[in-house]
Amino acid sequence: MGRYTVIVTGASGSAYGMRAVEQLLVGGHEVTLLMTDAGREVTAFELGFDLPLEDPVDELLRFLEITGTVSLRVACCHDLFDPLASGSHPSDGTLVAPASMGFCAAVAAGTSTNLPERVADVTLKERRPLVMVVRETPLSLIHLRNLTTLAESGASIIPACPAFYHRPVTIDDQVNYVVGKALDVLGVEHGLLKRWGE
Ligand SMILES: Cc1cc2nc3c(=O)[nH]c(=O)nc-3n(C[C@H](O)[C@H](O)[C@H](O)COP(=O)(O)O)c2cc1C
Repeated sequence: MGRYTVIVTGASGSAYGMRAVEQLLVGGHEVTLLMTDAGREVTAFELGFDLPLEDPVDELLRFLEITGTVSLRVACCHDLFDPLASGSHPSDGTLVAPASMGFCAAVAAGTSTNLPERVADVTLKERRPLVMVVRETPLSLIHLRNLTTLAESGASIIPACPAFYHRPVTIDDQVNYVVGKALDVLGVEHGLLKRWGE
């Protein structure tokens, strides 16, 4: 089983990150969740889930309706002494879902001033999989240039744009499609997608 980090930033679409955490845990993987400050605020606004400082793991598992033994850790966005801040800490990949344009800019510039940005930076420098579910519209030339820099540096850019050929009915169907594509790129098995031709 793999060891993955999921980063939730302050772009719209916190549901993508939450579904990814749920799928990775249910699949038996080890997960560390990192939320930026804006990520926490937007998640509270969009999903009604305010990640608490006390017992964040228990609260998150309750929110995700996961029971049983899973390997979940929630790291602090400002703790630059966390093991994940170093490339010597093993990891099978990082998924940023959703990724804000501010986050993309910081990673593209290599500035990393908090733990989530540092983890993305480390993932790239160690040449491990970095999958970024990016969300903004319209995209400015600055956004496009930053995304190009990230792609040139090895990141996989997944626009948070669901398809319609699988005939989605619910918002969950749309969320599952985007997260399923992201997990495909990360090389993680899942049952979120109805595949074309099946
Ligand atoms: C409700 C809400 C939705 C937002 N949606 C987006 C978005 O889709 N894309 C984006 O780049 N920024 C979005 N933002 C702005 C980011 O939250 C803001 O740029 C923040 O500084 C990003 O910080 P972070 O990258 O550290 O999470 C949104 C903000 C709010 C309050």
